[in-house]
Amino acid sequence: MLSLKQVSVTFNAGTPNEVRALRNVSLSVSEGDFVTVIGANGAGKSTLFNVVAGTVGVDDGIIMLSGDNITDLAEYQRSRYIGRVFQNPSLGTCPGLTIRENLSLAAMRGKMPGLRRDLKKSQEDWFVEQLKTVNLGLENRLDTDVALLSGGQRQAITLIMATLMKPKLLLLDEHTAALDPNAADKVIGLTIQLAEENKLTVIMITHSMQQACLVGNRVVMMNQGKILFEIAGTEREELRPTDLIERFRSLNTGAELADRTLLS
Ligand SMILES: Nc1ncnc2c1ncn2[C@@H]1O[C@H](COP(=O)(O)OP(=O)(O)O)[C@@H](O)[C@H]1O
Ligand SMILES: [Mg+2]
Repeated sequence: MLSLKQVSVTFNAGTPNEVRALRNVSLSVSEGDFVTVIGANGAGKSTLFNVVAGTVGVDDGIIMLSGDNITDLAEYQRSRYIGRVFQNPSLGTCPGLTIRENLSLAAMRGKMPGLRRDLKKSQEDWFVEQLKTVNLGLENRLDTDVALLSGGQRQAITLIMATLMKPKLLLLDEHTAALDPNAADKVIGLTIQLAEENKLTVIMITHSMQQACLVGNRVVMMNQGKILFEIAGTEREELRPTDLIERFRSLNTGAELADRTLLS
């Protein structure tokens, strides 16, 4: 459903600050895949998301989504098909609006079937049901301003909103990295649940080897603008965090990340 063919991105080309953020990256993601992406800081992970979402243009290469060549589509044209959740919990929800208002806006933008006009009640029931499953005490706080919520609570609402948009593709960029371990676990649980229930295709960047191994069906490892390896199928099913850390260590450049994530 998503394919990148030989995609390259260079920042500040021809200057002393030139960075080759993506070097001939090719990646193919199938409908329903849940891909985790790992790699040290600066590996090019976020740039990969930025070219898919249209935030950054490519120097070379082609990006296809559901059979359409989207390489030259503007970001706003792609945003109908692509949901994104970032590391910073304050980016996904609108402060000054309540949980109910945020969710209603997302439902309207996503044009949820049967959830307009007189069906407000079933819409609200659905919101409450989703909020209950996260187990963060949100279901009784529909009229609370999201600015007053914790990071984990805001990420949970951001995820539910991103799903309401019915995206073809959901891009999660270290969306639990700023959360405490307990909230991170809950948000990951919600991520898995929403992906399954809505049969979403998901790519999730993570700094956690645990998440990379336990969530999803494929792992992609990036380094210095390239995809170094991919693990899928039975190899992925049997993969343990220690195996990944070993592979990182053998790369040398990954030692720093491996050490950091051992602690998380
Ligand atoms: N807008 C930009 N302008 C200049 N350099 C950038 C920009 N975005 C990313 N980079 C550089 O590109 C490289 C890859 O960055 P990024 O994709 O953010 O890495 P990651 O998400 O894996 O940490 C880094 O060296 C980063 O400094
Ligand atoms: Mg990044």
